[in-house]
Amino acid sequence: MIHIERRIALVVMACLLSLPGLSQLPLFPTPAEVRMAQGHFTVGRELQVSSNGGYAGKLAGILSEELKAMDGDASSSGQVYLELDERAALPDEGYVLEVTPAKVVLKASSEAGLFYAKETFLQLAEATDGKVRCCRIEDAPRYAWRGFMLDESRHFFGKEKVKQYLDIMASLKMNVFHWHLTDEPGWRIEIKKYPKLTAEGAVGNWHDPKAPAQFYTQDDIREIVAYAAERHIMILPEFDMPGHATAACRLYPEVSGGGEGKWEGFTFHPCKEETFEFISNIFDEIISLFPSPYIHVGGDEVHFGNQSWYTDPEIQQFIKDKNLGNEVGLEHYFIRRINDMLAAKGKIMIGWDEIVDAGVSPDKSVVMWWRHDKKYQLVKALENGYKVIMTPRRPLYADFVQYGQHRVGRTWGGYNPIEDVYRFPESIIHLAQGYEEQIMGLQFSLWTERVADAKRLDFMAFPRLAAVAESAWTLAKRKEYSLFMQKLPKFLETLDELGIYYFNPFCPDSTPEPDAPDKEDVLKNG
Ligand code: ACM
Repeated sequence: MIHIERRIALVVMACLLSLPGLSQLPLFPTPAEVRMAQGHFTVGRELQVSSNGGYAGKLAGILSEELKAMDGDASSSGQVYLELDERAALPDEGYVLEVTPAKVVLKASSEAGLFYAKETFLQLAEATDGKVRCCRIEDAPRYAWRGFMLDESRHFFGKEKVKQYLDIMASLKMNVFHWHLTDEPGWRIEIKKYPKLTAEGAVGNWHDPKAPAQFYTQDDIREIVAYAAERHIMILPEFDMPGHATAACRLYPEVSGGGEGKWEGFTFHPCKEETFEFISNIFDEIISLFPSPYIHVGGDEVHFGNQSWYTDPEIQQFIKDKNLGNEVGLEHYFIRRINDMLAAKGKIMIGWDEIVDAGVSPDKSVVMWWRHDKKYQLVKALENGYKVIMTPRRPLYADFVQYGQHRVGRTWGGYNPIEDVYRFPESIIHLAQGYEEQIMGLQFSLWTERVADAKRLDFMAFPRLAAVAESAWTLAKRKEYSLFMQKLPKFLETLDELGIYYFNPFCPDSTPEPDAPDKEDVLKNG
């Protein structure tokens, strides 16, 4: 009888403790399942960290150093064990973390999963000053694609800033850094075959066309790719075309598609063989630097600067000869050709959602949905069999303001407060009903026309990045905005320690908006 009562009591307690409200730990993002238990594990200087070898051994060494750096309780001597076990068949990137008073066990079936177990344990240890409540966490991501995009063509931030973002992303279990490296004001990646691209193409930025050249050498790129890989982050390079190609066309006018006034050289020439050869040679160098199975080719907003396509006799003749119908047909021909070119090089093409209309192969391409005002484009992509990454301007563009009083940044019938970011994708996911398997995930994208320095970059990224991380990782049934806001101060403390200037949603006036370098930056619609 006593036994039965005890068992009932234990079951009731276990249920209560597994309710999200009671199990909310200061973890970013919230894990899938948490069961709290009695007691604590104390991180001490005599701690032993061991493993079952291989990658787990390497990670054990890293964790041991990270825990030592916390300078824990001198008298305590617990054990931490890391185990990579493929046969346990835990979900990809998933893990189990078990904390008992004497021992912590981190277990996963994938290297990424074990890495995330380590990040979770570290967050717990840091948030509790080394006195970690006993618990069992079973965790796995909602989405495979948890991305952040940084535009370094408009403004350049450099290697150290990128590494800092990679560190924070890893801690937030974000796994894709989409790097927008080529566009109108600047070309930021060294291409050995075309040295003018950086020698002259990297001169200038959105605010200052004469700013000294700033770009990444191929050695820098290799260093950053390796740094990201150690943190289980894939770097997705973007080489934007046929539009947004101004920096390249300025230096190599033989591949320029013309254009007028401020749009001069905005597109590549869409039908010269020389253009395709130029692009193919650049792809070869990009592919040699980035192990990602994907290459992003842009494909957006071609109509901004393709005026010459309508008047150039060679282009007009090409449209007739190839039966392309019109200039839009030509744009689609260009994208299909690039899709085939990349497929022949063994890469999957990613493009902005305009590529859905080009009739590229869903087996060889992935769509990034960005036009929040064209929801039908998301639906069309899914109905046509494409895999989709969601980064709609509202609420996932980080250059949109996050507070009603802010004056610098973009708006579009509203802005992107942290709450809207957090509530994504629930706000639109009904559109994907029946196609959930095709949604790869989501991404926060930071365009930098109105972001001229690191202070403003941080201000726009944080703390919204923590909300994106949770939207991408945490199961919908475990998301609760009020609980997220309750734990957010812990994340702000971490940002304080890192010296990051962020927007404080709890006392907005304590963190004034950094100055705009230009009156053009002030509230732009669209
Ligand atoms: C975009 O914002 N032009 C993809």
